[in-house]
Amino acid sequence: RFSAAPAPEAHALGRSLAFDVRLAAQDVEASIAHVGALRGAGLLEPDEAAALEDALARIGEEVAGGTFPVNEDDEDIHSAIERVVTERTGALGAKLHAGRSRNDLVVTDLRLWMLAAGRGVGEGIRLLAVTLVDRARSTAEIVLPGATHGRPAQVVTLGHHLLAHAWALSRDLERFAAWSDRTSTSALGAGALATSTLDLDPSATAGRLGFERAFANSIDAVSDRDFVQEFLGVATILGSHLSRFAADLVRWTDPALGWAELDEAFATGSSMMPQKRNPDTAELARGKAARIAGDLVAVTALLQGLPLGYHRDLQEDKEPVFDAADTLLLVLPALTGATRTVRFDADAMRAACEDDGLYATDLAEALVRAGVPFRDAHRRTGELLRRLDAEDRSLRELRPDEWDAVGLPEGASLLDPDRSVAARGGPGGPSPGSVVSQADALDAVLRSDATG
Ligand code: ARG
Repeated sequence: RFSAAPAPEAHALGRSLAFDVRLAAQDVEASIAHVGALRGAGLLEPDEAAALEDALARIGEEVAGGTFPVNEDDEDIHSAIERVVTERTGALGAKLHAGRSRNDLVVTDLRLWMLAAGRGVGEGIRLLAVTLVDRARSTAEIVLPGATHGRPAQVVTLGHHLLAHAWALSRDLERFAAWSDRTSTSALGAGALATSTLDLDPSATAGRLGFERAFANSIDAVSDRDFVQEFLGVATILGSHLSRFAADLVRWTDPALGWAELDEAFATGSSMMPQKRNPDTAELARGKAARIAGDLVAVTALLQGLPLGYHRDLQEDKEPVFDAADTLLLVLPALTGATRTVRFDADAMRAACEDDGLYATDLAEALVRAGVPFRDAHRRTGELLRRLDAEDRSLRELRPDEWDAVGLPEGASLLDPDRSVAARGGPGGPSPGSVVSQADALDAVLRSDATG
């Protein structure tokens, strides 16, 4: 139909090779599976199929070794591989694309790539979660002020706080595992949009590629990018979790607080100020979450309102995926190393538990146990703290007769951080015992099928 080559500007705009070269190994794999489908349909003799498979396998080796010969005219990796096969096998190579379109090929390649990337990210999440559980077990008894609104609230244990981050990561693992199940669908055989007349067997092709299943609807097969959007959604949630943990590391290692110190291997000096130990690893983990969220927004905007069927717009789906996966594979190991090596200052955390206010809720609840309605107990405790404030005294200076007057003869004994956390020993609470049971439960979740 065409008598002229595309204008150089149009070729430059359309060329995706610079990034989709990352799908080369998957394209070889999918092409070998398609050769199987053509042989199964009687469209290739066994020796023809073997010759094509050899040519594709050689390309696979060249791709792995970085010697695959792309040229300036290749628009994308799919056409480059077909070109090289055809140059090397002649008429045989010209048979390869029967019953196949780049529309079903590209989506199959991308699913294969993403399933492998998802496994890598899953491994990274698991390592961080396991590291957090490890550190939580050995810090189950370290007390520190827990916060709401970023202000001192109630005493918790360090193990409890670290496990809160690990539980969130376990849900990310479950989300990636569920995404992976749904994504394990081959599109090969869908053709451009409507399958073909060639009697190919999509489920046999799917099986050869290790997919759980073949597409159920060929138009859906070439149009569907919800697996991309979902991956980026799950990645964005993970990014939020990583940035939140990183924010804790930044705050805790602030010399003004002094609760933790990053190992030198995960901190950076200043080019100007000799005294600095900056938390760059944590800051970047926090900052990188922004680009993953941006990747999700880019793909969401891309897909919004796009009618069914392949559109060239869809070529824009890949770079956000590569970017999000690359980013996570940088951030996860760095954060895991920082977590493994960060030194917590248990004494500084305990010293911060001197703060009277941290025990106000414990006092109010002691009154509740003595039969005082909670609202009255809350008011009474608040009034006590206000009075002490005005007198410039602390709860620790309260005399026994004053505790009696408040209705809490045992009040002084409640101002003890260890007692405070031990008293909250119910399931999911901050007591050292609860931290150990949580760690056991989390270990089981991290080993279960639900997390992949
Ligand atoms: N490079 C293209 C992409 O990534 C491949 C599909 C091109 N298909 C087409 N019909 N022009 O989407």
